[in-house]
Amino acid sequence: MCQTGDMSEQPVNDAASATPAAAETNPYGGGAASGGPKRVRTRHFQNAKREGIKITGLTSYDQLTARIFDEAGIDFLLVGDSAGNNVLGYETTLPVKVDDLIPLTRAVAGAVRRAFVVADMPFGSYENGPEEALHTAVRFMKETGAHAVKLEGGERSHKQIRRIVQAGIPVMAHIGYTPQSEHGLGGHVIQGRGEGVKQLLADAKAVQDAGAFAVVLEMVPADAARQVTELLDIPTISVGAGPHTDGQLLVWTDWAGLTIGRVPKFVKQYADLSGILSEAAREWREDVESGTYPNAEHSYE
Ligand code: KIV
Repeated sequence: MCQTGDMSEQPVNDAASATPAAAETNPYGGGAASGGPKRVRTRHFQNAKREGIKITGLTSYDQLTARIFDEAGIDFLLVGDSAGNNVLGYETTLPVKVDDLIPLTRAVAGAVRRAFVVADMPFGSYENGPEEALHTAVRFMKETGAHAVKLEGGERSHKQIRRIVQAGIPVMAHIGYTPQSEHGLGGHVIQGRGEGVKQLLADAKAVQDAGAFAVVLEMVPADAARQVTELLDIPTISVGAGPHTDGQLLVWTDWAGLTIGRVPKFVKQYADLSGILSEAAREWREDVESGTYPNAEHSYE
């Protein structure tokens, strides 16, 4: 990775500026502290694929998690329309509006220093055609500080992707299982199985040809994802698409043990935040009820 373009930018920490040699040996991964870029750009996704270095992404919907994930060296944060069923109280992503996601995306983009922030274009904000898609993408770029947009669909969305890219806005594509089409797809159905791999490969090629800089593969068999990854020059990002992709993405609430209901098979939970928070809330309630909190230590004289 050529770091020249990054050198004038705000360093994330001192370790980053002190380790140019590490930057050569570790051209992408592990966060700036281990020599990766100070600010992740689309070219770093490309470099990562070329160098065989895995890309990491999590969703984020607020400034607190954005800051934590950014400092942990997560490469990109997706302000997903999964905010619908994680933040906004909807059952699916379908009711989510652009105006719902704008303030969340602004909060995330404003909190990061290194991570690349991707704004998800919600259902109904791009299906009418390339001009509607461009209008929505421009809103996200102007009003939030996001670095790219994401939209769902392969062949069916290639005109929208092309139009947005022509305007200078990077697009992350999303194929395989696309939650905004849940009803059209007949529910949470794995895509790209058997003969379905042909459509998956055609979708992958279409989004690359339209100019997407990366593509999310959601809920597809690992071998189908491997075929897509080998076919494409742009990096593939797995959400339930196995280990052969160029990167991995998870919805942060699933990954941190906050999921309400069934956890998808592909999720590994790295924390039990639900357990930690309910235990803390119970303890605090008991302390207040018993008069243990607040004591002198937590009171003003
Ligand atoms: O909205 C979202 O979080 C997503 C990911 C699951 C890919 O689109």
